[in-house]
Amino acid sequence: MKGIILAGGTGSRLYPLTLATNKQLLPIYDKPVIYYPLTTLMLAGIRDILIISNASDMDGLKRLLGAGEHLGLSIIYKIQGRPNGLPEAFILGEDFINGEPVAMILGDNFFYGHGLSGLLTEAIKTSAPCHIFTHHVDDPSRYGIVVCDDAGRMVNIEEKPVHPKSHMAVTGLYFFDGSVSKRACELLPSPRGELEIVDLIRTYDPVSITYLGRGYVWFDAGTPQSLLAASHYVEVIQTRQGDYVACPEEVALRMGFIDKSILEKALFTMPTSKYSDYLKRVAHDYH
Ligand code: TTP
Repeated sequence: MKGIILAGGTGSRLYPLTLATNKQLLPIYDKPVIYYPLTTLMLAGIRDILIISNASDMDGLKRLLGAGEHLGLSIIYKIQGRPNGLPEAFILGEDFINGEPVAMILGDNFFYGHGLSGLLTEAIKTSAPCHIFTHHVDDPSRYGIVVCDDAGRMVNIEEKPVHPKSHMAVTGLYFFDGSVSKRACELLPSPRGELEIVDLIRTYDPVSITYLGRGYVWFDAGTPQSLLAASHYVEVIQTRQGDYVACPEEVALRMGFIDKSILEKALFTMPTSKYSDYLKRVAHDYH
C-alpha cells in the first residue's frame, strides 16, 4: 500500500504560529508535527510516500525528510495550490497512486497506543475498498461523525453536524482502493467551497470501520490547546517510559526498513542532542 501525507492547509487556527511556518513543521514536544503521521504510516508497513503541501512550505519539508533513503522510504512531494479539501490529495496524487490501494493521513494527526502497528496491518490485510478509523469525541459538532447500526455498519456520515447523532468521529487516517482518484475527480465542492472527505467516503458501500478504543489516543494538532496537550502527552510518555514516541529512525530500524549500519551513518550527521543520544542507545541495544 502507498501512503499520502496531506501537509498543506492554512493553519488559521494556529495564527500567528503558522504565518511563517507550516503547521506540520511546528513542534509536538521535541519533534516536528509531521514525524507523528509519518511514523503512523511507517508502522502500517508503508514505505512509498507522497507528501502534499503548499509551495511556500516545500523547502522546509524537503530539508527535513529529503527523499527518505535514511529511513528506508521513498518520499516524493507535490504542491497543492490552495487548500481545496482533503479529497484533492487523490486528484493531485493520481499518478503516484497509479490505481493501487492508498492510505492517506492528515499531516497534523497523531495516533498512539499499544498494538497500533498490528491494528493497521490487519486493516490493510482485509483489502476493504474503504477503511476508516473512528474515535470517541466529546464535541462531535467539530468533526466528521459516523452513525452505525447495531451490526456496526455505517448508516450515515456527516461533516460537522449541528445536531450530531453520535460521538464517533472520523479520524484523519483513511485507506482506499485504487478507484479513489476517479471518485475524487467526480466530487463537487460543498457549500463551503471544498471537496469533502465525507462525500468521498459516501461513494463507498460498505465502509469498513476500526474503532480506536480507549487504549488509543488521537490528537489533531490544529489548535494551540491541542498542540500543547499533545506535547505534554509525549513529554510524559518519554520521560516516564524512556521510549520515544514517533521517532522515524527508530521505527525504520524496528520495521526492518533500514539496518543498523544506516542508522549509525545517520548518527554521524546529527548534532549532539537528547535525540541523537536516544538513537545511539537504540542502535547499541538493537540485535
Ligand atoms: P484542517 O485542520 O482542516 O485545516 P488547516 O490545517 O488549514 O487549519 P485551519 O482549519 O486552522 O485553518 O486540515 C487538516 C490537515 O489537512 C492539515 O494538516 C492541513 C491539511 N490540508 C491540506 O493539506 N490541504 C487541504 O486542502 C486541507 C483542507 C487540509
